[in-house]
Amino acid sequence: MTVSSAPGKVYLFGEHAVVYGEPAVPCAIEVRAQVTAEQRTDGKLRVHADDLSLDGFTVEYDGTAGEHPHVDAPESLLMAATQYVDGAIEQVYDVTDEDDIGFDVTIESDIPLGAGLGSSAAVVVSAIDAATRELGVTLEPDEIAERAYRTEHAVQDGQASRADTFCSATGGAVRVEGDDCRAIDAPDLPLVIGFDGGAGDTGELVSGVRDLREEYDFAADTVETIGDIVRNGEDALAAGDLEELGRLMNFNHGLLSALGVSSRSLDSMVWGARDAGAHGAKLTGAGGGGCIVALDPTPETETALSFTPGCEDAFRAELAETGVKRLE
Ligand code: PMV
Repeated sequence: MTVSSAPGKVYLFGEHAVVYGEPAVPCAIEVRAQVTAEQRTDGKLRVHADDLSLDGFTVEYDGTAGEHPHVDAPESLLMAATQYVDGAIEQVYDVTDEDDIGFDVTIESDIPLGAGLGSSAAVVVSAIDAATRELGVTLEPDEIAERAYRTEHAVQDGQASRADTFCSATGGAVRVEGDDCRAIDAPDLPLVIGFDGGAGDTGELVSGVRDLREEYDFAADTVETIGDIVRNGEDALAAGDLEELGRLMNFNHGLLSALGVSSRSLDSMVWGARDAGAHGAKLTGAGGGGCIVALDPTPETETALSFTPGCEDAFRAELAETGVKRLE
């Protein structure tokens, strides 16, 4: 039996625009998914998924890898518990010549689903690491990131950047531009997360931006402008200038709103954080609902968010220096 964990992430800058080749800067945070893998000799894949949402649903199925069985569960859970794990296990088979390899896979996650914190990437990264190690093969984080990206790309119908999976596999702050992914230095960032208890549909939101970009020049320009904000953000990160980082996060949120991917609760939490004195705040990830990230070294934002209408949970998140962790 092997156990691996991998962190979630926030986008400091650049979600959505990264899909069109602009740079993005995600940052891994100490909120993790953990996967236990145990080899079976009958070629079956059995997935047990607990705690995948704050409501603690349980999904369990027996099936053969590559064939998605019907599971009576909310769509997001179905995606997370079956398609992502199924896809991850597909990425594991070419490390062995043995036939009839199957797995019992157990997922535990503290990362809310579909909320912009990279839950699926963390599950896929830890599943690939645990299952390959169960077969006696230890992959480097770069190789895990590559296989995890292929999984997300396939499950999300080709609409995935490398950002979430690379960040989750390697940890720290990273810069992603097209196929080029690298670690970057980041100061100790006082990150505060606000969660509205909901989720966005990443595929729908990415398609919405694509349509807007095709129809309106302003949307194409906005995507490019987000790229400029990201480049400014990299300078501010290198200089450790929290005030400038916050200002740029505010600009980035405004541009994402213009692209139609914010929501009332996300805007309400962003303003709650700003009113509390945060250096800046923005939605993180695909948007539509889920999480915001704010920068505030004081306790004010966390407290204010817990009283902000639409905010279900507020917490401080440490940067995760290490990506995938081998626990057993
Ligand atoms: O919501 P998340 O954490 O899955 O992030 C989606 C980020 C997008 O840029 C909108 C899509 C992508 O694959 O980069």
